[in-house]
Amino acid sequence: MKRGIVPGTFDPVTSGHLDIIERAAAIFDDLVVAVAHSPEKGGGPLFAVEERVALLEQAVSHLDNVSVLPFDTLLVDFAEKVGASVIVKGLRAVTDFEREFQMAALNWRLDADVETMFIMAVPEYMFLSSSAVKEIAKHGGAVRGLVPEHVASALERALNTAS
Ligand code: PNS
Repeated sequence: MKRGIVPGTFDPVTSGHLDIIERAAAIFDDLVVAVAHSPEKGGGPLFAVEERVALLEQAVSHLDNVSVLPFDTLLVDFAEKVGASVIVKGLRAVTDFEREFQMAALNWRLDADVETMFIMAVPEYMFLSSSAVKEIAKHGGAVRGLVPEHVASALERALNTAS
C-alpha cells in the first residue's frame, strides 16, 4: 500500500490546498494530511493547531482515504512514524520554487527513503495562499470560493473575536 503525506501549516486550509489533497488522494492508496504546529510562522498562526485540524477534517470528509493529524517533529520523522514514503506538496507560481526546492533537498538529506513529489496548482489557485486569504478577510473582502464555506465562517468568527 502506498501512503502519501501532505504537510503544511494550513492556517487555514484554502481551496488550493483542497485541490492538491483531492488530486493526491486519487494517486495514493491512502493519504495523511499533516498539520504542523508552526508556532513561529508569521508571528504565530491565527488558528490553533486543533482548529486547523478540525477545519481540514471537515474539508476532506468526502474523501475516504484521507486522514488529518497534527505533528510537531521533523516531517521525515513523522512520515516514517505514520508509514508514508512520499511527501506531496503543491507548487504554485515560481516564487514557491526556491523554498520548496530547499525543503525537498533538506528532507532528502535527512532521510533519502522519503521521496518528495510536487503537484502543480491549477491556474485558478496559482496565486492563492492562506496569508492572502487572511489579509483579504481582515479587511472585510470576500473570501468565498477561495476557501471552503465553513472556513470562510471560521475566519469571520476568528477575526471578529480578534478585533
Ligand atoms: O504550509 P507550509 O509553510 O508550506 O508548510 C511548511 C512545513 C510545515 C511543511 C515545513 O515547515 C515542515 O516540514 N516543518 C516541519 C519541520 C521540518 O521537518 N523541517 C525540516 C524541513 S525544511
